[in-house]
Amino acid sequence: MLSPWLTQAGAHPPVIVRGEGSYLYDADDRRYLDLASGLISVNLGHGHPKVVKAIQDQAARLCFATPAFFNDTRLELADELTNILPWSEGGRVYFTTGGAQANEDAVKIVRLATGRSKVLAAYRSFHGSSAGAGTLTGENRRYANEPGIPGVVHFWAPFPYRSPFDTKDSREEVERALAHLELVISYENPDDIAAILLEPVVGSNGVIVYPDGYLQGVRELCDRYGILLIADEVMTGFGRTGAIFGSNRLGFTPDLITFAKGVTSSYVPLGGVLVRESVAMYFDDHPLMAGHTYSGHPLAMAAGVATLRAYRDEGLYERGREIEGWLRTGLDELARKHSVIGEVRGVGAFFGVELVKDRATREPLVAWQGKSQGPMPAFYAELRKRGAYTFGRYNFFMVAPPLTVKRSELEEGLAAVDAALAALAVTA
Ligand SMILES: Cc1ncc(COP(=O)(O)O)c(C=O)c1O
Repeated sequence: MLSPWLTQAGAHPPVIVRGEGSYLYDADDRRYLDLASGLISVNLGHGHPKVVKAIQDQAARLCFATPAFFNDTRLELADELTNILPWSEGGRVYFTTGGAQANEDAVKIVRLATGRSKVLAAYRSFHGSSAGAGTLTGENRRYANEPGIPGVVHFWAPFPYRSPFDTKDSREEVERALAHLELVISYENPDDIAAILLEPVVGSNGVIVYPDGYLQGVRELCDRYGILLIADEVMTGFGRTGAIFGSNRLGFTPDLITFAKGVTSSYVPLGGVLVRESVAMYFDDHPLMAGHTYSGHPLAMAAGVATLRAYRDEGLYERGREIEGWLRTGLDELARKHSVIGEVRGVGAFFGVELVKDRATREPLVAWQGKSQGPMPAFYAELRKRGAYTFGRYNFFMVAPPLTVKRSELEEGLAAVDAALAALAVTA
């Protein structure tokens, strides 16, 4: 086997054989609290009985239906998704098998619907690893795709803790970031820009919550230049930020939303694009030149219907707000105790902890995009030894438990993080 993203020699991850609620179990029956909801995706926790049953029932009845036909479960999920759209005009859903494909097909949709070719995306973003999505990505996971697809241009978005705009004032950061974006737009020919693509909260590049006014400012720029706004909600969707979508929580309205992960709590691969009606209607008399054998796969559709109903019926779209309070309290306490913590950032059940060598200079504990992971592998190994799992990149790690997590479980997980940070201070 070749494992994704790893140098193969010397990799010894645990062998996971079962999951239940907030916990994963390995082949030796060791238990790990899942502080990352898998890959920020198992929002319902592991093994939710209603979703498992829905998949089993669907498997017994129909496992495949060609995407060109309608299918009862597909119509049911389209209906569920249509009920949570942010547009008063309505909208439509297009299904893919994951997040990268969703972003690539969103690019195709905006190019076809606008007749323009360029797409602007932020640095310090991740949009998937296949050829097109990898080109949209704004960091070193893009490099293996280069030269990539034509027509993608990157820009800098705000990051108050490590400002690309040379300011410590977040209002100034927003003003400068928007002025920079407008300059990029003007030099790329606004009439040829189909869309701007952004994560509402930057995920695997550090859980960066954009300061107030930025996303609204991007929306205004899009309106001024006739550019469509795509929100990549692959991580932020389905309750992760304490609202149905990150864009709901962050207070802006995109034109397209790409999704994956949480839509089925990741029990079956599924992604897709939500498209506002005024854009979707273009395809009423033009062919939508995109599609995949597994688009709208019945097993994924059944998982999606049961998952969305569980979020709604169990109040999980909002529960992230309660978890946010617990995480804020617990992680701030860890920051007071461990000087290796430079900043704790997050919203809802979606937090990142950034580690530094020195709080005053903010020098990262491990150089961002550097060759060495420094003491981080030992940190994650210690965390697992203490019965918890998470992941991160370079000098930050995620704390993003399932939306079903109990407070006592979370406290147990934060105690494991506390111990692993103490061990890190000794080795770093
Ligand atoms: C924001 C974002 N977009 C897209 C993707 C790619 O999704 P997938 O791995 O399903 O292709 C990811 C994956 O982590 C992501 O975090």
